[in-house]
Amino acid sequence: MDITPVSNALGANVSGVDVRDLNDTDSATLVDAWAQHGVLFFRDQDLTPDEHLAFARRFGGVDVNRFFTPVDGHPEIAQVLKEPDQEHNIGGGWHTDHSYDPAPARGSILYAREIPPIGGDTLFAGMGAAYDALSKPIQELLRGLRAVHSSAHVFGAQAKHAEATAGRIGNPDAVRGDVTHPIVVAHPHTERPLLYVNPAFTTSIDGLTVAESRALLTFLFEHGRRPEFQIRFQWGQGSLAMWDNRSTWHFALNDYHGHRRHLHRITVAGDELAGAA
Ligand code: SIN
Repeated sequence: MDITPVSNALGANVSGVDVRDLNDTDSATLVDAWAQHGVLFFRDQDLTPDEHLAFARRFGGVDVNRFFTPVDGHPEIAQVLKEPDQEHNIGGGWHTDHSYDPAPARGSILYAREIPPIGGDTLFAGMGAAYDALSKPIQELLRGLRAVHSSAHVFGAQAKHAEATAGRIGNPDAVRGDVTHPIVVAHPHTERPLLYVNPAFTTSIDGLTVAESRALLTFLFEHGRRPEFQIRFQWGQGSLAMWDNRSTWHFALNDYHGHRRHLHRITVAGDELAGAA
C-alpha cells in the first residue's frame, strides 16, 4: 500500500490496495494515515453496500445519520444523491458532519457509484493547518472558549432548503438541542490542536455578546477556507474518500446540473471532544 500526501495542509492518496482485502496491519496503517492526513482518497474500488459497511466497521461503529434518506435495504448507509432535474445538492457549503451532536462522528466514508462526466468535485479544508496559522494571542483566546453547534436551522422543519431537498433530507423531528464543544479540540489520536467550528452548524460562541460572537466566527470561517488549507478531489466511479470530521471541513460543489451524482456515505461513530491542552 502506498500513501502519498497531496498537500502540506491535508490529504493523501492511497494506492495499491483493495479495501475489501485488508488485514489488521493494513487497517492500523490506515488509522494512523487518516489521523495524520485528515482525508484519504482511494480509486477504482468495487464495493457492494455490505463491503462498504465492512470497511467502515474497521474504524468503529456506525453513527447513522438521522436526516439523510438511507439506501434501500441498508439503513446504516446514507444516500447522497442529486438527480438531473434537481437543483439543490447535499453538502453544498463548508461543514463537518455531525458537529451538532454531543459526541460528533469520527469520520465519514463516501463511495462514488455514479459521477457526472465533469464537475461534482469535493473541496476539503484542514483545520490543523488553519489553527497553526493563527497568531499565538488568538490561539490562546480561542483555547478558553466553547462554541454552540446546532442542526435546527439546517435540518429542522423551518430549514431554508427543506423543500428543495424533500425526499433526500427529512425527519425534522430528530433535531435535538444545541450542544457546545471547545473551539480548539485535541485530535483524539494525535493530540494535535484543531480549530473546531464550521460555517454550517456553529451558530455562536458561549459567553460572548452577539456582536462579538458574530465577528469572531466570521473571521474564523473566512480563515478556515483560505486556499492554502484546501484541496480539491475529483471523483471517478469507484472512488472512495474517508475524512476525519474533527480535523477537516468539506464542501460538495454543485456545478453539474442536468447530470446524476450518486454516492453512499457511512458515518463512523466518535467520542466527546476534549479541548487542546
Ligand atoms: C457530504 O457533505 O457528506 C457530501 C459530500 C459530497 O457529496 O461530496
